[in-house]
Amino acid sequence: MVETKTILRALAGEVLPTPPVWMMRQAGRYLPEYRATREKAGDFLSLCYTPDLAAEVTLQPIRRFGFDAAILFADILLVPQALGADLWFVTGEGPRLSTVTGKADLARLKTVPDIHETLGPVYETLKILTGELPKETTLIGFAGAPWTVATYMIAGRGTPDQGPAHKLRMEDPATFDALMDLLTAATIEYLSAQIEAGAEVVKLFDSWAGSLKGDAFDKYALAPARTIITALKARHPAIPVIAFPREAGQNYIGFAKATGADCVALDNSVSAEWAAENVQRDGCVQGNLAPGHMVTGGQALIDESRRIVKAFSKGPHIFNLGHGITPDADPANVQLMIDTVRGG
Ligand code: CP3
Repeated sequence: MVETKTILRALAGEVLPTPPVWMMRQAGRYLPEYRATREKAGDFLSLCYTPDLAAEVTLQPIRRFGFDAAILFADILLVPQALGADLWFVTGEGPRLSTVTGKADLARLKTVPDIHETLGPVYETLKILTGELPKETTLIGFAGAPWTVATYMIAGRGTPDQGPAHKLRMEDPATFDALMDLLTAATIEYLSAQIEAGAEVVKLFDSWAGSLKGDAFDKYALAPARTIITALKARHPAIPVIAFPREAGQNYIGFAKATGADCVALDNSVSAEWAAENVQRDGCVQGNLAPGHMVTGGQALIDESRRIVKAFSKGPHIFNLGHGITPDADPANVQLMIDTVRGG
C-alpha cells in the first residue's frame, strides 16, 4: 500500500517536495472556536477529560487550516495527576501541583497501573478522533518527558530555571531517581495505551531539557528518552516517535541515533542551516519557525518560512514552530505560514 499520510512518509525518511506541516499548540486560545469550546467545558482540565469536547478542539485547527497532523488535546501534567498529585490551573498564571520534595511525598503517589483510571478519557478522545479525521491527517499522541514532568512535580509549578528540580537531584538523588523511574515507567504505559487507542505517532516533550548540561543531560534527558523509545519500539515497532529535547543546542547532535527517535523536533534557538548539517543528516527533523512570527506576520514570516523550507529541503522535514503558538497570535498569520510552505 502506498502511504498517503505525508507525516508518516517524512518520518519514514522520505524527502517530499513540500514538507508536511502542523503546529505545536495548534488547538489553543488564539482560536475563537477553541475559546468557545473551553467555555462550554468550564475549565481547561474538564476540557481535557471530556472526550467529545477534547476531540472537538483537536479537530478545530484541522478544519480551519488543513494541517497534515492532528495532535491529541490533553496536557503533559495529566500524568502527575493520574499518579495522585493534586493539579489545578490558575488563570493567567499556569499550573499548580502538590509538591514532591522527599521520600514521604513519593510514598503517597500511586503505582503505574493506576494511571489508566484517570487517563481513560484521553484514550477515549483518541478513539473518537480515529473515526473523525480526514484520511490524509496523521494522529499524534504525546507525553511529557520525565525530566520536564518532574520539574513541575518538584516545584509545584513552572519555574524559570528549574531550580527546585536541580536542587533535589543534587541533594537527594535517591528520591529524584525514584521519581524519574516512576515517570519513565508511567510514560511507557501511557504512550502504549495511546497507541492502542489510535495514535499513529507519539511525541515526547522535554521542554526543559535545555537546563540540563553535560552528564546531567545524558542521564536525565537522553537516557529516559532511550528507555521509553526502546520499550515502545519493542511493543509497537511500526509507530514513529518524535523527540523534543527543547533547547538542547549541541546535544541535538546524535540525539536521534542515541535514543532511537525517528525524528528530532528543533526549537528556534538553533539555525535551520546548522541543524540541516548536524542533525538532519541522521534522519527526519521537525521545526523550527519562531512562534513570534504568528503574532507579527508580514514579509518576515514569509521570508523565514521559505528559508527554513529551503535549508531542510535535502532531507526529511516536517514544518513546525520552534515552540507552541501563543494566545496573542493572529490566525491569519497561521494561514499565511501554511500558504507559504505549500505554495513556495
Ligand atoms: O499542542 C497541542 O495543541 C496539544 C495539546 C497540548 C497542550 N499542552 C494544551 C494546553 C500539549 C501538547 C501540551 C504540552 C505541554 N503542557 C507542555 C510541553 C510543551 C511546551 O509547551 O513546552 C507543557 C510544559 C505543558 C504544561 C502546561 N500546560 C503549562 C505550563 C500550561 C500553562 C501555560 C499556558 O499556555 O497557559 C498549560 C496549559 C495548556 N495546555 C493550555 C493548552 C491549550 C492553555 C490552557 C487554557 O486553555 O487556558
